[in-house]
Amino acid sequence: MYKFVIQGGTKLSGKVEVSGAKNASLALMPAALLAPGKFKIDNTPDLADVLTMSKLMETLGAKISLSGRLQTIDTKGVSNFEAPYELVKKMRASIYVLGPLLARYGYAKVSMPGGCAWGPRPVNLHLEGMEKLGAEVTLDSGYIVARSKKLTGAKINFDVSSVGATGNVMMAAVLAKGTTVIGNAALEPEIVALGDFLVKMGARIDGLGTSTLTIEGVDELVPCDFRNIPDRIEAGTFLVAGAMAGGTIEVLNCEPKHMSSLISRLEEAGAVLSVSKESVTIQAPDAIRPVDVSTSPYPGFPTDMQAQWIALMARSSGSAVITETIYYDRFKHVPELVRLGANVEVKENVAIVKGVEALKGAKVMSTDLRASASLILAGLVAEGTTEVLRVYHMDRGYEHIEKKLRGLGAEIERVQSDEF
Ligand code: EPZ
Repeated sequence: MYKFVIQGGTKLSGKVEVSGAKNASLALMPAALLAPGKFKIDNTPDLADVLTMSKLMETLGAKISLSGRLQTIDTKGVSNFEAPYELVKKMRASIYVLGPLLARYGYAKVSMPGGCAWGPRPVNLHLEGMEKLGAEVTLDSGYIVARSKKLTGAKINFDVSSVGATGNVMMAAVLAKGTTVIGNAALEPEIVALGDFLVKMGARIDGLGTSTLTIEGVDELVPCDFRNIPDRIEAGTFLVAGAMAGGTIEVLNCEPKHMSSLISRLEEAGAVLSVSKESVTIQAPDAIRPVDVSTSPYPGFPTDMQAQWIALMARSSGSAVITETIYYDRFKHVPELVRLGANVEVKENVAIVKGVEALKGAKVMSTDLRASASLILAGLVAEGTTEVLRVYHMDRGYEHIEKKLRGLGAEIERVQSDEF
C-alpha cells in the first residue's frame, strides 16, 4: 500500500504532457473483440484500469501488450465469453465486453458490476438496449447472460444520456442485421473516438458527435490501427492545479476543444488561459473568484471534474454552489476536504463551498479516482504536510501523477504505507 506525502505551498510552473484518454481506451479495447486479428492502438495510457481491461480480455483469449504507449491487441484466440466477478468488481467498465461478445459470438456472460464508491450506477440501459436488438437477457446469480443468434437493428432511445450504454449498444449494433438508430446518444469525445475506431474497422455509423446515431449493420469488421484521443479529465485536473498553485502551467498533448466548458469556468474564476491547437497554458489568478457550476453531459461541465472544482472553490474569495446532476451523491471527497480546512456543506446533490484563507495539511483518505485528485490538488496549496492514503485509486486513472506534478515543481512523493 502507498500514500502520497505532499509539502504544500510551492508554486507550480512549467510544462506537463497529457496521456491518452482512460475512458476511450476502456471502450476501444473491448471493441477489438468485434474482429479477429491484430490491432495497434497508440497513445494508450499506462493505467491500472487499462491493465484490468487487458486481464479481462486475456481471460477471453485475447493477447494484449503495451510497450510505451503502443498497445497491441490480438483477438484471433478469443474463445471464452465470460467476464468473471473478480475482474468486473474491480472496474465497472468491464461491462463494455457485453455488446461486442454478443454481436460477434452470440453469447456473453458478464458479472453484474456491483457497487461503487458513490451512488447506484445501474446498467439497465445497457441491458434494455441489447434486448431491443433482439438478445435474450437474463440475470443468473449475479451474472448477466445474453444470447442471440443474430442481432437485428432497432430504434433505441435512452431516457438518460449514458456514455456506457451508448458505447455498448453501438458496439452491438455494428454487426446487427439492418439499421439501428440510437436517440439521446452520448456526445462525449470518448464515444466519438469509439465510433471513429469502429468506422476504421469497417462499421457504418452516421451522426457521431450528435445525439442521434444511425448504424447500418455489416457482416464483418476487420482489425485496424488507431491513435487514442488525449485525456480531457487528466488535462482538466492539471489546469485546475495551475489555477490553484500556479505560476503558469502549459498542458501539452491535449485537445482544447474537449474542455471548452472547463476553460470558460476557469476564466470566470480569474485565471488567464491561452489555447493553441494541442495545448492550453494557464496563469493562476491572484485571487480565485467563486464560480457556480452544475455538472451535465458533454459538452457541459463534466461530473469527472466536480471534485477538482470543489477543491479550487475551497480557496476562492467567496462562496460557490456546485450542483451534481449526474451522480447525486458523488461527494465522498467533501469530508476529506473538510479535514484540510475547507468549508463545504452538502445538501442532497448540491455543495455550497465557502472559500477559506488557507487550507491546512492533514492525513486524508482517497475514496475514488476523482476524489483522490481533489485531495492532491488541495494538498498542493495547504500549509504544511498532507498525506493522501490509498493512492491505488489515483493509479486507476492518472499516469505517473507524482512524476508529472514533480515536473511542475510540486513537492510530492509516493511512500510505502501500511495504513489502509
Ligand atoms: C462514464 O461512466 C465514465 N466512465 C465515468 O468516468 C463518468 O463519470 C460517466 O461516464 C459520466 O460522464 C467510463 O467511461 C469508463 P453513464 P458510465 O452511463 O458510462 C445513469 C471516471 O472517473 N445510468 O454516462 O458508467 C447513471 O446512473 C469515471 O473516469 C442509468 O441510469 O456513466 C448516471 O446517472 C467515473 N442506467 C448517468 O446515467 C444505465 O444503464 C450517466 O452515467 C447507465 C447509466
